[in-house]
Amino acid sequence: MRRAQGAYALGIVFQDQPQTLYAARHGSPLIVGVGQGENFIASDVPAILDQVRRVIYLNDGEVVALRAGGVSIFRLDGTPVPPVVQEVTLAAEAAEKAGFETFMLKEIHEQPRILRHLLLQHPWRESTVAMPDLGLGAPYFRKLNRVMIVSCGTAFHAGMYGKLLWEHVTSLAVETDLASEFRYRDPKIDPGTLVVAVSQSGETADTLASLRMAKSWGCKVLSICIGVASTKAYTAQLMALALLAIHLGRARGELSEAQALEYLRDLQAVPDALHYVLDRKEAIRQLADKHHDGPSSLYLGRRFNYPTALEGALKNKEISYQHAEGYAAGEMKHGPIALINEYLPVICLCTRTRDEVYAKMISNMKEVEARHGRIIAVATDGDAGIAALTGDVIWVPPLRDEFTPLANVVALQLLAHYSAQARGTDIDKPRNLAKSVTVE
Ligand code: M6R
Repeated sequence: MRRAQGAYALGIVFQDQPQTLYAARHGSPLIVGVGQGENFIASDVPAILDQVRRVIYLNDGEVVALRAGGVSIFRLDGTPVPPVVQEVTLAAEAAEKAGFETFMLKEIHEQPRILRHLLLQHPWRESTVAMPDLGLGAPYFRKLNRVMIVSCGTAFHAGMYGKLLWEHVTSLAVETDLASEFRYRDPKIDPGTLVVAVSQSGETADTLASLRMAKSWGCKVLSICIGVASTKAYTAQLMALALLAIHLGRARGELSEAQALEYLRDLQAVPDALHYVLDRKEAIRQLADKHHDGPSSLYLGRRFNYPTALEGALKNKEISYQHAEGYAAGEMKHGPIALINEYLPVICLCTRTRDEVYAKMISNMKEVEARHGRIIAVATDGDAGIAALTGDVIWVPPLRDEFTPLANVVALQLLAHYSAQARGTDIDKPRNLAKSVTVE
């Protein structure tokens, strides 16, 4: 293994030692399950939860020898490593479908609970969000002037939302980049830049490499790692970024006590708003049944909901295999408008907002209508203007502008799920996708 390069997680049996299973990891996930007279290797805990509840998390560059009666761990130089056995607290049912048609649907429904949990974990204290484990205090945040958020895929969309919200709430200059681009360009980063990695798994190779680079430049790094599966990881990432926005705004003295309390109160409404959308899943299923058959679909949103449009299109692509494009609605005229005809579903995120974005979205929708596109709107319940434009509406409850993406994306997750079901794909095992992308 000393000569092996790159990322790997291997299980190896030698012909002349059939009673021993060797395993080694570097960069890719690998755990050991510790049983009674039997031991296991797996890439993740849920895979072995029905067999064992005690696990050892291996570190990079470790080799383990498993026999029925015991486990020995070594570093690559042969030094023994004392095994640290941990009890798994994750309920076994968490790895099961709990009565839902698919794992994805189950996870979509778990979102209100996850968000409530996040809010409880970060209680308000003196009109700010308590974050005792952050490791970075108010003096650091007051001096900070630049933030770089790096991530991939869905987490990149969460990063885009973080940028919009943090720039809205603070005077920080926030940039986002795809980790796979960031690590190969020449970013002008100095030790005064805070580099934030957003990742569900914490294992994405490009995101980890970007963090290592940032550390080598002397930057402080902050990780938002959400250890749950994809749909709920996204809304949890958005919630974590929103809580951090308030924390940063207070730490830098840029958000007044009253403003922070207002934000915090409005955040508490989010889990119920998600329930409201989930309760309307039958109507969303009917829309999916009506529109799933087109060759492509277009998702449009502006400002806080531009990342939502990108994420909705990504979800649709990855599970229904229908081509989908997410666009900032203002860009529609600059090209994608040529695609619009009576066959193209155009999903428009048009929840009512206090700013001019809403009026602009309405005029974009009229442009789609004029070209006979099939408009599916995600709109605020009771909005007569939208009802007059299209009969195909997913209604969501009113929320503060900044937090509408949390409910809107759940509508798009359900739409993708039911479109995929109508198209007959295997939702829980989308083709060509890995659970985590641990190679470049
Ligand atoms: O584990 P990460 O959040 O770092 O993963 C990044 C992407 O691979 C991931 O968000 C991917 O786009 C989603 N699983 C798609 O649903």
